[in-house]
Amino acid sequence: MALLEIVTLPDPVLRRKARPVTDFGPSLQTLADDMIETMRQAPGVGLAAPQVGESIRLIVVEYPLDDEKEDAPKKLFVIANPEIREISAETEMGVEGCLSLPGLQGEVDRALEVRVTGRTRRGQPIKIKAKGWLARIFQHEIDHLDGVVFTDRATKVWKPAPDEPVLDNV
Ligand code: NI
Repeated sequence: MALLEIVTLPDPVLRRKARPVTDFGPSLQTLADDMIETMRQAPGVGLAAPQVGESIRLIVVEYPLDDEKEDAPKKLFVIANPEIREISAETEMGVEGCLSLPGLQGEVDRALEVRVTGRTRRGQPIKIKAKGWLARIFQHEIDHLDGVVFTDRATKVWKPAPDEPVLDNV
């Protein structure tokens, strides 16, 4: 496994619509492993392939399925061609940061619950129901595949003060 360089704005790869994954062979497996390692080292709780300069529809996320339960175990998701299929009408404001926009935070209104479909790293169909922060992470990462960053959606963006709590980056 190898650590990859995280690209930041204004790199144009972050503004491109990424292409679907069609080949689930060794190079995708290597990219997935490298993205997991890069996300963990950053540290972050999600990473999309365009953030490491690869314009393909692949995301990795590591976060508890139910973070309302104390000590809920983290779950690792590697999803190719993720799509949001259902979205709750109910939304929630939350503060986000992004590994590709270092030094910025913003308040973003996101759906509270989403249902995501896609493929596993081996090409098997997968369906995930997510709510709260996990739902937010999926929405943030899938936006990256369409060239959208959180500041496009934020109602307020600021540079955090040194004493502001450090966020989970995505
Ligand atoms: Ni991000």
